[in-house]
Amino acid sequence: MKNSAPTVLLGVTGSVAAFRTIDLASQLTKGGYLVDVVLTSGALQFVRPLSFEAVTHRSAYTDQSPGILAGRAIHIALAERAGVVVVAPATADLIGRHACGLAQDLLTTLLLATEAPVLLAPAMNTRMWRHPAVRDNVALLERRGVRFVGPEAGLLSCGTEGPGRLWPVDQLYAKIEELVPRAAPLLDSREREGKELAALGQRPSSLPQEGDKSKERNEMADKKKPVKKPAVRKTEKSSKKGPAAKKK
Ligand SMILES: Cc1cc2nc3c(=O)[nH]c(=O)nc-3n(C[C@H](O)[C@H](O)[C@H](O)COP(=O)(O)O)c2cc1C
Repeated sequence: MKNSAPTVLLGVTGSVAAFRTIDLASQLTKGGYLVDVVLTSGALQFVRPLSFEAVTHRSAYTDQSPGILAGRAIHIALAERAGVVVVAPATADLIGRHACGLAQDLLTTLLLATEAPVLLAPAMNTRMWRHPAVRDNVALLERRGVRFVGPEAGLLSCGTEGPGRLWPVDQLYAKIEELVPRAAPLLDSREREGKELAALGQRPSSLPQEGDKSKERNEMADKKKPVKKPAVRKTEKSSKKGPAAKKK
């Protein structure tokens, strides 16, 4: 059974803006998307996989991840289940590698293996963004159908001002939603876990197991049983006043 929630593959590369992608991953997850995160070795200098795993409730992948995922080569498995591939932030280096058709790491390999729409959100120093090599690489990728969003102009972390900032997270979200409309409403993590495991024919550990049914029923029956009032020891005086005394 195929899960109805679309999967966003979020590539993260080695830029100071990489921490902002954690927020994007979190918002996408809350919005009902399944989010697979792939970090380059460059990205690992700035952010850790665990930050993404904590907000997506799924594994994040790196070049050190096992080569086989769900019984298939990892780059093929990730490329095929993606409804969209988004690289945010996309470094000058990643853009160059993809323009050259290189496949030397997990992210560039799956970028060649996917048929999903690809959206790159560059972030870099203004002079790098304006460099003819980067301009040519962007133009070449656009001709091949790769979409770009940003960069935004503003004050950069390196102290210069101009285009180079990562596109705002809420606007990136809107762009992704345009490319892959979300199918599922907001799910809480327990519901999502249930749906994912149901697709695999398993029961989530956090939900009641088969053997728990009788326990549940006993608990229900206990709730229905009238509560026994504690026996009250009648004193000579009270017994005469009570209903039994009146009958006599
Ligand atoms: C502190 C620091 C910040 C960097 N920020 C950026 C950046 O914003 N954009 C960029 O294109 N490269 C940046 N770089 C350079 C990349 O990290 C470098 O080119 C790296 O090889 C990119 O690898 P990746 O694209 O595989 O992640 C930065 C490097 C350092 C040391």
